[in-house]
Amino acid sequence: MGQVLLLLGWLYFSIHVSVQAEQMSSRNDLHPECLGNVVRLRVGPLLEEVDIIVNDTEIVQLSPRLAAQCGFRFKFDNTGNAILFASLLNCFSHSMDDETFNLFGQLRVSGDHFTAGYTCSYTWASREILCDHTYMEVSVRKTLPDIPFISKQRVGGRKGRNSDPRRRSKAVAPGYRMTKVVFMPSNKIMKTEEVQRRGYAIANTPTRLVLRSPHEEEETYLQTVAGIPMRLLSTSTFFEQKWLVTRIDTVAACPTQGSVAFTSDLITWYMPRQIDPLLSSDSFTMLEVYMGVDGKRLDDKEMAARNYSVSVTEVHIIVKIPVGAIGGYYKSHIQDYQYFSAYTIEPMLEMLWIEEDAHEDTRYKVLFPITTPLVARPPQVHNYTPLEGTPEQQVFMLKLGTFNLDVVLLNITFSTGLLTIAECNARGFNVQEEISEDDSSKTFSVEVPFLDPVVLQEKSLEQGVTSFTLHLIYGMAVLPEYNTFSHPAVVNSVLMNIVPPSITGICDQDNFYIIVNYENQAPLFEIIIGGWLLTSDLAEQYVTEGESRITLTVPFSARETVFESIQPSSVRSRLDVSLLNPFTNSTMKDFSLGCSFPKTLIECLSNGTMTALALKVASAPGLNPRQLTLADRTCGPIYSDDRFAYFQFTINSCGTTNKFIDNGILYENEISLPDELKLKTALGVDEEYHLMVSCYYLANITQNLAFNNRPSNTEPSAEMRSDILVIMKIATDSSYRTFHEVEDYPVVRYMRRPLHIEVEITGSTDPEVKLILDHCWATNDKDRTSKPRWNLIINGCENPEEPYRVMFHQVFADSRVNFPAHMKRFEVQMFSFAKEVDILRDQLTKIFIHCDVFICDSNSPAGGFCREQCVNKENNSKRGQRHVEDTSVPRFHVSSGLILGYVKIWKSKSFVKK
Ligand SMILES: *[C@@H]1O[C@H](CO)[C@@H](O)[C@H](O)[C@H]1NC(C)=O
Ligand SMILES: *[C@@H]1O[C@H](CO)[C@@H](O)[C@H](O)[C@H]1NC(C)=O
Ligand SMILES: *[C@@H]1O[C@H](CO)[C@@H](O)[C@H](O)[C@H]1NC(C)=O
Ligand SMILES: *[C@@H]1O[C@H](CO)[C@@H](O)[C@H](O)[C@H]1NC(C)=O
Ligand SMILES: *[C@@H]1O[C@H](CO)[C@@H](O)[C@H](O)[C@H]1NC(C)=O
Ligand SMILES: *[C@@H]1O[C@H](CO)[C@@H](O)[C@H](O)[C@H]1NC(C)=O
Ligand SMILES: *[C@@H]1O[C@H](CO)[C@@H](O)[C@H](O)[C@H]1NC(C)=O
Repeated sequence: MGQVLLLLGWLYFSIHVSVQAEQMSSRNDLHPECLGNVVRLRVGPLLEEVDIIVNDTEIVQLSPRLAAQCGFRFKFDNTGNAILFASLLNCFSHSMDDETFNLFGQLRVSGDHFTAGYTCSYTWASREILCDHTYMEVSVRKTLPDIPFISKQRVGGRKGRNSDPRRRSKAVAPGYRMTKVVFMPSNKIMKTEEVQRRGYAIANTPTRLVLRSPHEEEETYLQTVAGIPMRLLSTSTFFEQKWLVTRIDTVAACPTQGSVAFTSDLITWYMPRQIDPLLSSDSFTMLEVYMGVDGKRLDDKEMAARNYSVSVTEVHIIVKIPVGAIGGYYKSHIQDYQYFSAYTIEPMLEMLWIEEDAHEDTRYKVLFPITTPLVARPPQVHNYTPLEGTPEQQVFMLKLGTFNLDVVLLNITFSTGLLTIAECNARGFNVQEEISEDDSSKTFSVEVPFLDPVVLQEKSLEQGVTSFTLHLIYGMAVLPEYNTFSHPAVVNSVLMNIVPPSITGICDQDNFYIIVNYENQAPLFEIIIGGWLLTSDLAEQYVTEGESRITLTVPFSARETVFESIQPSSVRSRLDVSLLNPFTNSTMKDFSLGCSFPKTLIECLSNGTMTALALKVASAPGLNPRQLTLADRTCGPIYSDDRFAYFQFTINSCGTTNKFIDNGILYENEISLPDELKLKTALGVDEEYHLMVSCYYLANITQNLAFNNRPSNTEPSAEMRSDILVIMKIATDSSYRTFHEVEDYPVVRYMRRPLHIEVEITGSTDPEVKLILDHCWATNDKDRTSKPRWNLIINGCENPEEPYRVMFHQVFADSRVNFPAHMKRFEVQMFSFAKEVDILRDQLTKIFIHCDVFICDSNSPAGGFCREQCVNKENNSKRGQRHVEDTSVPRFHVSSGLILGYVKIWKSKSFVKK
């Protein structure tokens, strides 16, 4: 099987269709697309030159020059991806019949091998002209004469010359040899070998003659067609047989960049409608006009979607493409350190016309990359830093743009030095690449906190502001060439100076009030109260917010407080507050407020119950209040927690002691830890906790008092009696039927008249209870201990001495008196108390009567004195014994109101009224 593609001297290799190659075709790595007389292969990323391996052994470096000569072209998009365009008639293509073409070989890129194979079928027009970016190619159907005479056959020859239609249909006559080529208009004659050597390509396939020339080869020339500058290649190729010589003329004409006009948003490409150098007559019919991109035709719908348009006028075919339209791309360029952008698109125009008198059709195809002029696009820094909040919260937010997709951000240089993007992000600058919605451009965003050391701060005290300045230089590169460039920027923000928050506080009798003022700053701190973070839950409980102030209202006994000391009538409590910077965990402010709150932690209830609240104090940090007890270790708190222990007990239980003081009884107990639980401090010293609990019960006519006369050792506590009251009344006369009421006081009495006194227990229905008057006396002053003092009853018996003679009156039951034993009556002379001087001067004498009384239960085994008021008034020796203190018997004090004694009838009305 002979070689079909005629390879001439310059080509040192050829293609064999081998079995191996067939197998390769099954794995078409490069996705070939047959686009008429052109094949398109997507090669992928490609940064270096490519080798083609043909015949599995021959390695051919596809230099740009060889590629143009052989009908290959690489096109790179902006990301460095390559597309290979190959003419179906390229040097390495293989065809048996000029209808089906294939190529099997490999591409070698950076040591990687790609299988490069395609099979494409194509039906040729009589003449095909292909204008590629790097070459022009013309192929014509060969119809060499088989009759022995010298003739000329012109295909695409000059106008006005006729060709013989009969010959066109005939097959190529065998035996012809291509001998020489004459280039027009220079008339330079070259042998075919020389043609190849000079960089042109010429091929003689079974049916066609192919001529190809890189643009701007020596023998090409410029010509203006319909105002459009075009480059032409015009040749006559001579074929010789033994006796015959024949010639085929070919002309190719391709547009140059001069055919394009630009505005800022539109590309307009003009092509002559009638390409005169290619026509042999005036009458031709345009059969088809197609537009496409990257070698591929587009239908009307696609054209409209992309806003492309093709219009045909009398003279021109006009292609319009909006700058930025789909199908093209923007590419970045750096010139003089400036950023430029250009838009590139490769439209294709395809025409088919027929010359009527020649009956020959011509397919004309142009692949025409267009790049707009460079447009300067200086990057802009958009500062969208929000200006609110504190410097801690503030972040410079910058966007740099707009760039084409082929730009990458490499690094940013700050005042402190260069940081790569990875370093920026590690530092929290959040550098992001943002692609526009239509995928056509990108911006770079960066966020720099105001307090980062790369930001310069300048505080102006007199203006009360701080200015934050960020200097930065963006370092970027354009890919894939890696052309670097940079863009400097300075951004500035001015913030009000930070006024540090302040804390003040006051107390009332129940609460702490802590006021945190934060002036012009949002509250950028956390509040810690008593070691607890002020969470939203706590805040709900305590916080009232005002304008730039927070008020905390914290009860004196809240969990967050500390008790410093406990006094009988007050508790000293302390609240510690601190403000924390949440960014650094450092304390911004510490504040402590200690106040004494007037609180009585001990209650003395009238029914003889005492309550005490023991608090854990700061000086006993290890104390567990649950372990506290009263003097009797079996008496623990009825309620307790980490900070409190609440005790409730009766005065005759839990080891409570009592003693008489003045006219009252003092009950005492102590709250402490059992010895075995005494706290040891780190120093080994006992930490003592003692809380004295005492109740002083006054015995007077208005004081309610509960009592229990059973011995205290009969615990647990005996039942208590209901309220008992001891009262003293003055009777109007000796009948003891009417009495002076409370509102009658002061009672006024003539000095020589007797005073009738009654002392009574009320509130008891126990007939066994007996009232005993132990001591009774008179004073001039309300104070029962004042001097002078006139003793009336001593140790239960009447004072035997004159003039204080007291007379007891026996009490009998009657309508008023239910229990005679509950009552004592006695009579005393008023003059007893007056000094002679006072009487002479008509002075008033103030008198108060006081008694100390016992209340005895006749059933109780108490001392004998309880049985009678005065056991034996004559037996003085017995009286002495009665002084034995028996503290188990309740003793009460009772006093009269003011009694005024006078000698004469009173003169002053006003006084009487009073
Ligand atoms: C193709 O390869 C075969 C076998 O390696 C070799 O014999 C032949 O010469 C090669 N053809 C060319 C044109 O180099
Ligand atoms: C086409 O042009 C119209 C009108 O100028 C415009 O609205 C539309 O966005 C364009 N379409 C494309 C894909 O550019
Ligand atoms: C930083 O970016 C610039 C481009 O402006 C580049 O020239 C330089 O090599 C880059 N430096 C580093 C360390 O990446
Ligand atoms: C601050 O302290 C808290 C609790 O100790 C901790 O969880 C947090 O991570 C700390 N924050 C900083 C910035 O150190
Ligand atoms: C005494 O009064 C208090 C308060 O009213 C009550 O809680 C307590 O039980 C009473 N004690 C006795 C022994 O009645
Ligand atoms: C009796 O006791 C009450 C309450 O303690 C007190 O207010 C009052 O002054 C006392 N009366 C006399 C006469 O002492
Ligand atoms: C006085 O007391 C003594 C001693 O208790 C007693 O012996 C004597 O009888 C008493 N005198 C009278 C009159 O009761």
